[in-house]
Order: sequence, then C-alpha cells, then structure tokens
Amino acid sequence: MVPQELRQYIDLLNERGALVRVSRRVDWKYEIGTLTRKAKAPLLFETIVDYPEASVFTNGLSSRDCFALCLGLDPRRTNWGDLVRRVRRGRVPIKPTPSKLSAVLRERRGSGVDLYALPTPWWHRADAKRYIGTWHINITRDPVTGIENAGVYRMKVLDEKHTTVSVSPKSHLAQHVKEAERRGEPLAMAVAVGVAEPVVIAAAAALNRGENELAFAGGLMGRPLEVQNGDLCDLPVPSNAEVYMEGELLLNTRVSDGPYMDYAGIPNVNPHAHVYRVGRLAWRKDVIFRGTSVGEPGGEDHLLFALLAAANLADFHGSVVRKIIQNFLLRLRLFRLLQATGVFSQRLRGKVPAKK
Ligand SMILES: Cc1cc2nc3c(=O)[nH]c(=O)nc-3n(C[C@H](O)[C@H](O)[C@H](O)COP(=O)(O)O)c2cc1C
Repeated sequence: MVPQELRQYIDLLNERGALVRVSRRVDWKYEIGTLTRKAKAPLLFETIVDYPEASVFTNGLSSRDCFALCLGLDPRRTNWGDLVRRVRRGRVPIKPTPSKLSAVLRERRGSGVDLYALPTPWWHRADAKRYIGTWHINITRDPVTGIENAGVYRMKVLDEKHTTVSVSPKSHLAQHVKEAERRGEPLAMAVAVGVAEPVVIAAAAALNRGENELAFAGGLMGRPLEVQNGDLCDLPVPSNAEVYMEGELLLNTRVSDGPYMDYAGIPNVNPHAHVYRVGRLAWRKDVIFRGTSVGEPGGEDHLLFALLAAANLADFHGSVVRKIIQNFLLRLRLFRLLQATGVFSQRLRGKVPAKK
C-alpha cells in the first residue's frame, strides 16, 4: 500500500518499528534541529514548547528502507537499484484526481493570518530565522502554458503574513515570476506542508517545463494523487496535507534570504529572494508539521538528491561541468565530496562561508 497522506506513512513507520517518538518536551528553537541532525531515523516530536496541540515530523526519508516504504515497496526486497527503476517508471504520469478534504482545519485569512501559529523549528544556530519551507511543495501555474508546476523552494518566516521564497534563476518558478512581472499580473502560489513523501520526491525532481510534478507523483505512487482546489487561488493542492498556504508572490520585490544551512553544510545567502504574502493559512487541528534540517552528510535531502541523480532527475542549476561532477558524486553517494564541491563553488563566487 502506498500511503496517500503523511499520517498514514507515519503510522506505517510506527507499525514497522521504524519511528522514533520523542515524547519529552522539546524546544522548536534549535533543539528539534539538533536532534534531527544527530538521528538517522524518522522522528516524531510530540511535545513542543509553546505548541501544545502540534507535533513535528522529520527525517522521514532518512534511509533506503524509508524510500521503499513510502513508495509501497517491501524494504526487505528493495535495493537502491529497485528504487531508481521505480522513480524512472514514475515518469509515466498519472493525472491527479479531485477529492474532498476530510480533515478538520483551523483557518486564518487576510489580516488574521499568523504564521507563528505553526511550530516551525529554528533548525540551526547558523540560520537567520525559522524556515517554514524545508520539506514541502510550492505550486504555481505557468502564465504561458497554464500548466501547474510544483517545486521545493526554501521559505523563511519574515513576519506573521510573509515569507521569503528562494528560487534558483533557472528553475520553473523563476520563469513563472519573470513572465508574471513582464505581464504585470499577480502570480498566485499555494504551498502544502506535510504531504505524502512521493509528492516531495516529485516536486524536487528536475522535470521539463510543462511536465506536471503532481502527475509524476501519481506515477510514483501508481495511483492518482488526490487533490482539491485552493480556496483563494485556483490551484490544485494535495488533499489532506497538514498545512496549506495560499497567496501571491510580490512582483518586482526581492529581499536577502539567509544565512541558511544548505546542502553543502555551510550557511548560504540568497540576495535576490522573492517575497510571498500569505492570504490564507489553514492547518489540521492536531497538526503534524513536516520539515528537515538540511546539510548533514547523508541526510534525507542528500539521499533524495542521490535517488533523483541516479534517475537523471537532479539539477542544482549550476554550470554543465558542476552538474556532471555533482551527479557523479551523488550517484556514488559520496556526500562529503558533494559538500566540498558546494563549498568550493561558493568560495569561487566570493562567498566566504562562516564557521558552523
Ligand atoms: C530539501 C530541498 C530544498 C530545496 N531548496 C531549494 C531552494 O531553496 N531553491 C531552489 O531553487 N531549489 C531548491 N530545491 C531544488 C528544487 O526543488 C528542484 O530544483 C526542483 O526541480 C525545482 O522544480 P521546478 O524547476 O520544476 O520548479 C530544493 C530541493 C530539496 C529536496
């Protein structure tokens, strides 16, 4: 069975004895991040300072067995090659199917939106602030083709209603923004946090422009992804996500984002990040917030990139030479060397990484 929502997956991990429940009180500031980096197992933090109703789930894809389970495969009979073949096969898309949301939601709109209602961890001491978008999906519609795109773009909480969105200039979202700015038309964006893991795998994949990642997620799961239309934006979002945001990217507005610990294990700054204004925030009553602390050698972000690289679906949007080297290192899962290339390229660009 392929879990259709994050909770089903967490239950499955629990049944298999693969979930570590942390029931003691933990602080969203640094502590969750530190524990996440130390453990190489899925963690469910059940008691969080300031957030009595919420939990936080991290490290959901921290091993090959986790990837197998989230794709409905038997971990005992699944090797890395099987996972790669499964991801390649997922390229045959299965269109999402509309379905009604069944969970009870808490909701704030307009002036009532308060992003601090969520237990977003402050992942690392080197991070500037709390990053709400680390293991989630950003959905926009291509103003030219009308086709939806999903990606994973880091987001920092700026205030109650705004976040940054760090977008590589070669990504599809960057192209959507460019076209929206050229037309002077607003660009709506929906964000879902706490979705089934194959949805994040699909969103992180470097598909061609016009290929719908939600249909790729269906291909990965072997059945259509259940989606519903947003309330504010006419964009499909996975049904039964833990958290929804709807709003728009501010046109012709850029801010500095970071420092933020990136995949290379060093703090990274993006001087040209976008700003997202959230017009609607909805979350499940007993929300399970999903995120991750990136940059640990062999952490879940690295494993995900390694799987995508083996399926020819990873792209760090650097030069061709860098892409070849990074894909080579990822395929061999030489994560420390991968990080060294990231540090080297930052040095080349004149960014001197601060000490951890
Ligand atoms: C954990 C994680 C964090 C990521 N953060 C970013 C980011 O901040 N900015 C970015 O441009 N890409 C980021 N990516 C990579 C993109 O998700 C990836 O390039 C994706 O293919 C973009 O899709 P799109 O071009 O179809 O929109 C991240 C990927 C993962 C797995």
